Amino acid sequence: MQLQSPLINTIIKTMTIISKDIVKAIEILNNDDVVAIPTETVYGLAGNIYSEKAIKKIFQVKQRPLFNPLIVHIHSIKKIHDIVSEFPDKAEILANAFWPGPLTLILKKKSNIPDLITGGKDTVAVRIPNHPITLSLLKQLSFPLAAPSANPFNRISPTSSLHVEDYFKNTISMVLEGGECKNGIESTIIGFENNEPVLYRLGSISIEDIINVIGQIKIKNNKEIAPNAPGMLAKHYAPKTKTYLVNDVENFVKNYQNKKIGILRFSEDIHSINVVHVEILSKTGDLKEAASRLYNSLHKLDNLNLDMIVAEIVPDFGLGKSINDRLERATK
Ligand code: TXA
Ligand code: MG
Repeated sequence: MQLQSPLINTIIKTMTIISKDIVKAIEILNNDDVVAIPTETVYGLAGNIYSEKAIKKIFQVKQRPLFNPLIVHIHSIKKIHDIVSEFPDKAEILANAFWPGPLTLILKKKSNIPDLITGGKDTVAVRIPNHPITLSLLKQLSFPLAAPSANPFNRISPTSSLHVEDYFKNTISMVLEGGECKNGIESTIIGFENNEPVLYRLGSISIEDIINVIGQIKIKNNKEIAPNAPGMLAKHYAPKTKTYLVNDVENFVKNYQNKKIGILRFSEDIHSINVVHVEILSKTGDLKEAASRLYNSLHKLDNLNLDMIVAEIVPDFGLGKSINDRLERATK
């Protein structure tokens, strides 16, 4: 008995449980530890924003540089004044239009928000996620949750509990099961410069939908370096497999006849060429469906031991712009 117990303890500590048990998740979070949580965009790796131990663990588990700030998740717009010191009119209009939902606002932070959350900046990113389980979890906690996407730095974001388990089997103790993420790509990020809104990350809300609510908006979805959204590095969301993004998939693969190739196609199948696997994002050509399947398809292709993934550029409007943005970053 005595000999066994330390060993059993170690094993229990390092095994990831996938479970719907919110009470268990609360217990872990109250204990300064991290839990992966479902959202409508992607799974997040969550911890108490006021717990230095939990937040440091998030950075450590993800291998994420400390200068890259985290998004704070709250459950009600009433909580916004606990987090931010200014709430400009246009931010409020956007929040009312899209929360709960895949919109992150970058606003002036309150002084009690730890530097570890904001990378030392005087702004903080905040959103209300639209997922019933995570909203229920947030309501039962006495603190907001910081949650970056639950993937190692620079890898494909997770849209199912199994993706998270695959990445962090031995490092986190729980994934709160919430099914497949409905939207499937990260939130759209909007900040303010001289009181005017600026879009820093294309995401699950299209530019067109934003413009419908607040009119024209400046876009700084910079591919090389975006000082105002430091996570937007060119290489991001990347499969391990070498990935190409092209207009004409058939023509491109003709040059690689003896390679093991996987195809990521927008809506039409391919019959004429010899490839290992074809993932079709939306048979009906629906960009919303395509966005929701993008990361799952990339995860699948990346697990097939291919020589290369060849992805097709999707129509470049609405959510298509966000999909193309992620695919470009996947090829870097
Ligand atoms: O959909 C999402 O937003 C998901 C789910 C889990 O909510 N979260 C997510 O977090 O995508 P993350 O950490 O993978 O991406 C957050 C981005 C990063 O690029 C980060 O640099 C930027 O937001 N960000 C966070 N706080 C910021 C701030 N104060 N100023 C500028 N950019 C900030
Ligand atoms: Mg991320």
